[in-house]
Amino acid sequence: MSPRPSLKSLRKHVYRPDLADDGMSPELARILDPHRGHADALITVLAEIQNHYGYLPRREMEHVADTLAFPLSRVFGVATFYNLFRLSPPGRNTVRVCRGTACHVNGSAAILDHVKTTLGIVEDETTLDGAITLQTVACVGACSLAPVIVVNDAVHGRMTSDKADAALTALRAESAGAVRA
Ligand code: FES
Repeated sequence: MSPRPSLKSLRKHVYRPDLADDGMSPELARILDPHRGHADALITVLAEIQNHYGYLPRREMEHVADTLAFPLSRVFGVATFYNLFRLSPPGRNTVRVCRGTACHVNGSAAILDHVKTTLGIVEDETTLDGAITLQTVACVGACSLAPVIVVNDAVHGRMTSDKADAALTALRAESAGAVRA
């Protein structure tokens, strides 16, 4: 009969199982290595990770906590405090409704409500098919066209509910074509 494993050896195997079975990718190592042990680099590395992945995957956040010697709960605390950071993958397309002052006084709240209802999501969510992420922005520098929405990189001014419907319908058709291609 083979000897029973010691408690010490079992501990070694259950310690951080989430990291034990998944090494760090070369891209993540390139981002983290210059900041090893430096907790003050947290926001810098989170921004770089988001630039690379488009959001902050949980596994990468665990590596951040491990490498910067920072508690995982505080890594999540910082990531959720700043709305610049995303914790879920972005959709294939992004619709941004401007909520800056000029757009606000020209009815952007009603436009946002209409887009939310049409897409069935709220700000910073993505439609279930992964096609569209909805966001709000403070100003896109096109105040003379207020109210404004931005579909991917295209600015659509003097927005109305009907124009928003047309833009979303065109976007869905374009997105479906791109998925089929
Ligand atoms: S406030 Fe909306 S574009 Fe400036």
